[in-house]
Amino acid sequence: MSDLWIGTSWKMTKTLAEARAWAEGLRDHLAGSAPAGVQPFVIPSFTATTAVAEVLGEESPILLGVQNAHWEDAGAWTGEVSVAQAKDAGARIVEIGHSERREHFGESVETTGLKVAAALRHGLVPLLCIGESAAVKEEGGSSAFILEQTRGALEGLTGEELSRVVIAYEPIWAIGETGRPATVEELVEPFAALGEVYAGRVAGLLYGGSVNLDNAADLLGIEHVSGLFVGRTAWRLEGYLELLRIAEDHAAARTG
Ligand code: 13P
Repeated sequence: MSDLWIGTSWKMTKTLAEARAWAEGLRDHLAGSAPAGVQPFVIPSFTATTAVAEVLGEESPILLGVQNAHWEDAGAWTGEVSVAQAKDAGARIVEIGHSERREHFGESVETTGLKVAAALRHGLVPLLCIGESAAVKEEGGSSAFILEQTRGALEGLTGEELSRVVIAYEPIWAIGETGRPATVEELVEPFAALGEVYAGRVAGLLYGGSVNLDNAADLLGIEHVSGLFVGRTAWRLEGYLELLRIAEDHAAARTG
């Protein structure tokens, strides 16, 4: 069985000193190897990318990511950072299409597709985020909506390219301070729908949105869920370390 992906995006939080302290704590705790059966990853703000890369070191078992990247390698795109630049700074994952970027920065199915292709071209892991609004959920359209977002961004990829993609399902109604944690029952159907098309074909199918220390184990138990993508709970290092421990236990139980 493949590893459980357990990662955090720090969104627009942390000074350089805070970023370094978190990364040093994680590096020292793991002492060179990831928990058995777990793939940790951390996605800081752009400003902290190199600082965290330096703290973790090149041989780190923790994958470092960026929260967005442009599809062109270089050029007149003021305010943007390319996948090539992110890779140069030490990133190995590119987060693409988080709902906050779709809502506030015009990210679309078309641009997410371009960014997935750019990440693959440079050998980085595209972490494609998908998720429906409360209104779509109320109409009963969750699974169709997320399948369309996913298909639109991934169409045209070869099987080999698809096998390097990680998908994170993050329902908008479950994210952040204004979100409410999804129940396991609510997530069974969307993951069944995603699993039917993508299980075994992509590198991971993650859940994100108000993951906390009380619901993490249950969320990992949902069929086709192969990891967690976490905001607030993991911004404190102690919270992230506890999530790694929960995942390690889960991985051990899976393999018997
Ligand atoms: P929270 O875990 O804070 O709800 O954020 C989830 C998320 O958006 C991760 O990308």
